[in-house]
Amino acid sequence: MGEKKVIEEKEEAMKIKKTPLVFAVNGERFELDLSSVDPSTTLIDFLRNKTPFKSVKLGCGEGGCGACVVLLSKYDPLLDKVDDYTVSSCLTLLCSIDGCSITTSEGLGNSRAGFHAVHERIAGFHATQCGFCTPGMSVSMFSALSNADKSSSHDLPPRNGSSNLTAAEAEKAVSGNLCRCTGYRPLVDACKSFAKDADIEDLGFNSFCKKGGDRDEALKNLPCYDHTKPTTFPEFLKKELKMDMSLESDPRKYRWSSPGSISELQGLLQLDNSMYVKLVAGNTSTGYYKEEKERKYSRFIDIRRLPELTVVRRDEKGVELGAAVTISKAIEVLREKENVSMLAKLANHMEKIASRFVRNTGTLGGNIMMAQRKQFPSDLTTILVAARATVKIMSIGSNVQEQFTLEEFLQQPPLEAKSLLVSLVIPSWRPLKNGSSSSDTHLLFETYRAAPRPLGNALAFLNAAFSAEVSLNATHDGVVVNDCLLAFGAYGTKHAHRARKVEDFLVGKVISDEVLMEAIGLLKDEIVPDKGTLNPGYRSSLAVTFLFEFFGSLTTNGLLNGCSKENGFESLKREAMLSSAQQIVETQEHSPVGKGIVKAGAKLQASGEAVYVDDIPSPENCLYGAFIYSTMPLARIKSIRFKENRVPEGVLGIVTYKDIPKGGQNVGNKGFFASDLLFAEEITHGAGEIIAFLVAESQKLADIAVNLVVIDYDTEGLEPPILSLEEAVEKSSLFEIPPFLKSKPVGDITKGMAEAEHKILGSKISLGSQYFFYMETQTALAVPDEDNCMLVYSSTQAPEYVHRTIAGCLGVPEHNVRVITRRVGGGFGGKVMKSMPVAAACALAATKMQRPVRTYVNRKTDMITTGGRHPMKITYSVGFKSNGKVTALDLELLLDAGLSEDISPLMPSGIQGALMKYDWGALSFNVKVCKTNTVSRTAVRAPGDVQGSYIAEAIIEKVASYLSIDVDEIRKVNLHAYESLKLFYNKKAGEATEYTLPQLWEKLDKFSGFSQRRKVVDEFNASSKWRKRGISRVPAVYGVSMRLTPGRVSVLSDGSIVVEVPGIEIGQGLWTKVKQMAAFSLGLIHCSTTSDELLEKIRVIQTDTLSMVQGSVTGGSTTSEASSEAVRICCDGLVERLLPVKAALEEKTGGPVSWDSLISQAYMQSVNMSVSNTYSPDLYSTQYLNYGVAASEVEVNILTGETTVLRTDIIYDCGKSLNPAVDLGQIEGAFVQGLGFFMLEEYLMNSDGLIVTDSTWTYKIPTVDTIPRQFNVEILNSGHHKNRVLSSKASGEPPLLLAASVHCAVRAAVKEANKQIQTWSNNQQGVDMSFDLPVPATMAVVKEFCGLNVVEKYLDWKIKQRKNI
Ligand SMILES: Cc1cc2nc3c(=O)[nH]c(=O)nc-3n(C[C@H](O)[C@H](O)[C@H](O)COP(=O)(O)OP(=O)(O)OC[C@H]3O[C@@H](n4cnc5c(N)ncnc54)[C@H](O)[C@@H]3O)c2cc1C
Ligand code: FES
Ligand code: FES
Repeated sequence: MGEKKVIEEKEEAMKIKKTPLVFAVNGERFELDLSSVDPSTTLIDFLRNKTPFKSVKLGCGEGGCGACVVLLSKYDPLLDKVDDYTVSSCLTLLCSIDGCSITTSEGLGNSRAGFHAVHERIAGFHATQCGFCTPGMSVSMFSALSNADKSSSHDLPPRNGSSNLTAAEAEKAVSGNLCRCTGYRPLVDACKSFAKDADIEDLGFNSFCKKGGDRDEALKNLPCYDHTKPTTFPEFLKKELKMDMSLESDPRKYRWSSPGSISELQGLLQLDNSMYVKLVAGNTSTGYYKEEKERKYSRFIDIRRLPELTVVRRDEKGVELGAAVTISKAIEVLREKENVSMLAKLANHMEKIASRFVRNTGTLGGNIMMAQRKQFPSDLTTILVAARATVKIMSIGSNVQEQFTLEEFLQQPPLEAKSLLVSLVIPSWRPLKNGSSSSDTHLLFETYRAAPRPLGNALAFLNAAFSAEVSLNATHDGVVVNDCLLAFGAYGTKHAHRARKVEDFLVGKVISDEVLMEAIGLLKDEIVPDKGTLNPGYRSSLAVTFLFEFFGSLTTNGLLNGCSKENGFESLKREAMLSSAQQIVETQEHSPVGKGIVKAGAKLQASGEAVYVDDIPSPENCLYGAFIYSTMPLARIKSIRFKENRVPEGVLGIVTYKDIPKGGQNVGNKGFFASDLLFAEEITHGAGEIIAFLVAESQKLADIAVNLVVIDYDTEGLEPPILSLEEAVEKSSLFEIPPFLKSKPVGDITKGMAEAEHKILGSKISLGSQYFFYMETQTALAVPDEDNCMLVYSSTQAPEYVHRTIAGCLGVPEHNVRVITRRVGGGFGGKVMKSMPVAAACALAATKMQRPVRTYVNRKTDMITTGGRHPMKITYSVGFKSNGKVTALDLELLLDAGLSEDISPLMPSGIQGALMKYDWGALSFNVKVCKTNTVSRTAVRAPGDVQGSYIAEAIIEKVASYLSIDVDEIRKVNLHAYESLKLFYNKKAGEATEYTLPQLWEKLDKFSGFSQRRKVVDEFNASSKWRKRGISRVPAVYGVSMRLTPGRVSVLSDGSIVVEVPGIEIGQGLWTKVKQMAAFSLGLIHCSTTSDELLEKIRVIQTDTLSMVQGSVTGGSTTSEASSEAVRICCDGLVERLLPVKAALEEKTGGPVSWDSLISQAYMQSVNMSVSNTYSPDLYSTQYLNYGVAASEVEVNILTGETTVLRTDIIYDCGKSLNPAVDLGQIEGAFVQGLGFFMLEEYLMNSDGLIVTDSTWTYKIPTVDTIPRQFNVEILNSGHHKNRVLSSKASGEPPLLLAASVHCAVRAAVKEANKQIQTWSNNQQGVDMSFDLPVPATMAVVKEFCGLNVVEKYLDWKIKQRKNI
């Protein structure tokens, strides 16, 4: 290259486009000086910290939850065309949105400009609870609508007010968004309501229309959506883009560049010879490699404008895709060639990579580079290796492009940081076999992946893609393999791996069972996960499964295009669309109480205007904290220091127990039993225990700096840590259970055992933990006030206890502290005890620094430090009669409380309460609450009850297996009669008429068609080899307690009403029920203003611990009804005061009096218009039982272990529901959370007790594709309950227990699989049918219990059968 050329190119490189960064957010123009922007700033950082648009929520920061999704619009001035797509703002770099327009949920519509139809429909379909996920859901739905409307492939015009979206697309619209509250069904219905092919009658309970009503009328009521209105892209931005106002400037000034040519790129790279130059495309890899977010790069170079990298070329040789082509774009391109099935299959597989909002920016090149450089478990590389793709690589400086096969490239040493992957080529595929006629030679291509979520957003346990050329072989009457390529990946190996020995073996062979058996033998030696990979046996067995599925259909000839009936693959099809039915009784008696009105603030939640703690703007001078936690189970803390002893940028200090002020105590929580420490002192007693709180100038700096902290530990002279329950018992490391909480035996266990005709002795069950996975992690903001006072905003379920903890910690009187909580983005028990240290740490740091301090705990720290449910081990002996009637149950239970007491002593009563749902004859129940050196465990929705209820089912199953009697019969025979219920539950049992469980049990049979469906399931199992079904129904009994609850109702001079309750709106609809109750109760004044009109005048306000004392805790499912009752009492007081005023007014005016005139008269007469009072439950109303039943049917793929919940029917007794829409949401949401516990969620620790499933990558809560395909709920209105609040009953936690029905159904299906294996085995009694299926029954567990070697057993059986052995 001549010198002149080099100079020219350098000059060219200097011509970087615009220096200001210009973009729009919700139509507002933003211009930033590029030199002032840290290029590692993400879009979410900017939106949340520098703009008023707080609807964008941070749920994970790793692309895994969808809470931060925004719509990104790009304008092409040449084509005059706007493209919109969703992106995760937590992974999108701010500098990369130059020239783009961003729309957040409040940009779609809001309370001032009018809500968008998406918001209104989400609200009307009761699809929001805590609301933290809802803005992200709104944007995902909106994007699905607008993309469907732009796409020309939709030919049917949509009806008025709907969109071109189809119902099937609607189901996928939110498949990447997590919601922990709703159970997804109402969200899907809200989205489907826009679909042109959805029938409103098929959608769930909503506020727009009644079932069976006039369809046209119903459609008219739906908030209108104008599908012809394109997304607006601001005109000013269009103009600026058209004018191309590029400035020439010196790139040395800027750390972000976006070169438009390779030579420009080269110039830039030559400018900076350091190692710290980062090439970026979509930047989504930082979701996985989070440390990348913290690395200091001197320069970021965006490579997405390089023409060579954006190329899309299709010709007869194949398809070439530039490395910067996004996965979404690639899917589109590959689908364009409809006739090439291989390309379509690649596209289908790519659709399961991540979620739509990641695929929209994640590029092909980025994915391949992650795999090549860092061994990322990529899907893309596996499927592309099988497609024989090649890649073009360019070393910067050389200008020469080299081409390798992808397989070769993956095996090369990691590509140098400054080298470029230019493009990849998928070659056209032609038969190898010369002279073969096209009719007898076939090209086969298939891809596979097994992952916990069918629609994606979960890494695969193993992925695979196979291509083969096969021909019919007349001589051997079979199918011969001419050539094949078998690629496997993501199973715990460096790169996608070709099973070459198997390939070599298969080439030239006629496919037969014997050949397959031999191939499988070879394969098992080749697909071996690296040491340390989770579930290695399962992963290897998946490889066998996929090989079998691919070639198994060819063991009989002539069936090359479809499936072989012989091997039974015909049933391996995805299931039908989601559907649901609800039977709900709305009552008028106490209207508006009893109506399914829309949740208070639902639209605000959807638009993202609802304010959570982290949305409160930071006060001036605010500092930010991050927790430093122990990674050792038991060790002396010698020192806390920074790596290289260098204090990182922006760090102001580290707060430890030594900073507790004089008179204060090192307390992290107060309220229940013994207080826990806020910070570990000299010794840490568990991995995950909080040691210190680092304070920095921003949350980002604090989070980065925490990773630079080094703790020097020393274990010398310390006992070994206690990490198991057995060790705790051996060392008597136990927490005391107060006498009043000790379990009480029922009946005479010795007598019961003596009456038994059969006994099972010493059987064991173990249960693991579950993380809350609230979408809003722990957060607080502490603001120092005058005179040593502290104002704290806390996301807590227990403001009173947060208050006490802070006062205790700071050593100040309680009147110096004020805790305010408006709403919480999901609690599930995790924001009771675990919110206290978070608020206390902020308050302590604020005291020390005398500046406001806040924290928003990142997901990883939250997962590691909060603990979740109590793991436990159960040993039981049970005696029973030959008909299955249990006569005695003796249980020993070891509970892992972790390092501190928390609420653990409460657990035994919860466990026993739910366990007693069956009549055990006599019960002896002994619990030891063990203290171990692990993170402290706490209450998680239905604490103890979910385990107790499950233990009962596991015992019933065991008895049924022992007696070989249908388990449903055993359940029935052991259901309580009222007499035995009273024996077990005493006063809680209430009156005989209140015991509705037997009625529910019978009703469920009809409601779900249980008996008939059992026959259908049997028929299915008889004919299906690789899919087995199970159906099961379970009861649940759940005891709750009412607590003393204050309230205040005040009427302002204009007639508007303010309600204060200590209960927190955590998504359970407390505000809504309270509002309804206030409207009903004030309506009893009978003025001309109706209760419904009064409802509009009521506002429930935030909880303030100085305004309302003795607020206690929001939890235990009864806070809504107790708060409602407190409000009712207050309203009664107001009505009493207003009645004489009203009588006098009526007399004076001679006519009816309106509310407003009544109030203005009351004000004139100085009537006290504020009433505070307290609800105090009496002996009969303190405790009661709740009942529910559920039947679930599942289908298990015994080759992969995948479970599909085909249908769930629930009947739940809500008494007279205060708000059936809210209760329906609670029932469905709780059930789905339970589904997570029983089927998906593994909250695992390492050998030091440190939680290792600490991200959305490793912890999988249910998503829309894992909920029951058909989900029917009936809310039973069981009439009058005189001791209940307006006859209502609780709904928040009990339905979670019913998810055990899914687990039991899976067990039934697995049993069927085992029965089948037994028929393939010579050893007819060989399989144990009384197995205990672990919880959670993940894919790996289910597969293991179906037999990891089921394929081999089957083939072996077939071969032997043929040979007549
Ligand atoms: C939540 C989530 C789930 C995911 N699930 C899956 C999954 O199930 N299966 C799967 O296969 N993948 C999955 N991925 C990975 C995803 O496909 C990649 O993150 C994405 O494709 C990376 O592209 P990018 O443009 O964002 O890369 P970037 O993050 O911009 O870059 C990644 C790396 O490659 C380098 N680089 C990028 N392009 C080039 C180039 N052309 N030449 C040289 N170096 C380059 C960058 O410097 C960087 O080091 C998931 C990702 C996320 C965030
Ligand atoms: S916060 Fe961005 S995807 Fe979770
Ligand atoms: S409403 Fe979806 S996470 Fe709470």
